[in-house]
Amino acid sequence: MILLDGKILSKKIKLELSNEVNEIISLGQRKPHLVAILVGDNPASRTYVSAKEKACNEVGFDSTIIQYENNVPQEDLIKKILEINLDVNIDGLIVQLPLPKHIDEHLVIHSISHKKDVDGFHPINLGKMMLGLPTFLPATPFGIITLLKEYGVNTIGKNCLVLGRSNIVGSPISILMSRNTKFANATVTLAHSKTKNIKNLTMNADIIIVALGKERFLKSDMVKKGVVIIDVGINRIKSDRTRSGWRLVGDVDYDNVKNKASFITPVPGGVGPMTIVSLMKNTLISYKSLNKNKN
Ligand code: GUN
Repeated sequence: MILLDGKILSKKIKLELSNEVNEIISLGQRKPHLVAILVGDNPASRTYVSAKEKACNEVGFDSTIIQYENNVPQEDLIKKILEINLDVNIDGLIVQLPLPKHIDEHLVIHSISHKKDVDGFHPINLGKMMLGLPTFLPATPFGIITLLKEYGVNTIGKNCLVLGRSNIVGSPISILMSRNTKFANATVTLAHSKTKNIKNLTMNADIIIVALGKERFLKSDMVKKGVVIIDVGINRIKSDRTRSGWRLVGDVDYDNVKNKASFITPVPGGVGPMTIVSLMKNTLISYKSLNKNKN
């Protein structure tokens, strides 16, 4: 079994990014700048946004977190987004999801300039992704593709099963894995809560990407030997193994499934760090594209 180690790979990519930032600074230019909008007090969202801020610091980007109360009027949020769209000192803007129920998520995403949409959630960017045109790939799918590529996992003609059809992970990764490209060129099945006989599908899959948000859902008796496992889940469970009394587990029963897998991502330390570094990559791409006439 080979560990698809997102911690090590993301460190290597962060080093490359910080070298690029140093070059930019040595030319007397401003640093790339990512802004994250956080609404409400969802603890997981808070943790993710802090991790993104930390990564910005590590690679030498400027970062700003704009925080709103849970009951912020939608117009205020959109007004701020439109302001940021016009700010020439900001290269990337993300609005951490999920948003409170009174806010229309689609309208908010639509308000972000597609040129600064480093999450790749804007319909223009998703459309470009669908067509295989250069764009910002959503960070988690981008991170998964990078892991598969860097570890030389063969995807050509393989049966790839995606579990979960979210807009953030399941749907975009199913499109990317099914494209005719060098590093992702599989036969894809997208399964979800209404899928029947999931075990038939998992037993037939060469690659399984699990993004369900159900702790340790995928068991070892559901997979074939040699399977490649990508675990996107991050679930907090009670534990007597740690001092804090809780620990993170994925959507895969890692301790048992790892014995049958040829490649597997751990949780934590697999897809999570790759998501964050992919967002950093997108921010640098945006910086270069927005500033190309100035440099
Ligand atoms: N919520 C869960 N994942 C993400 C992500 O990649 N970007 C944003 N903006 N919100 C999320």
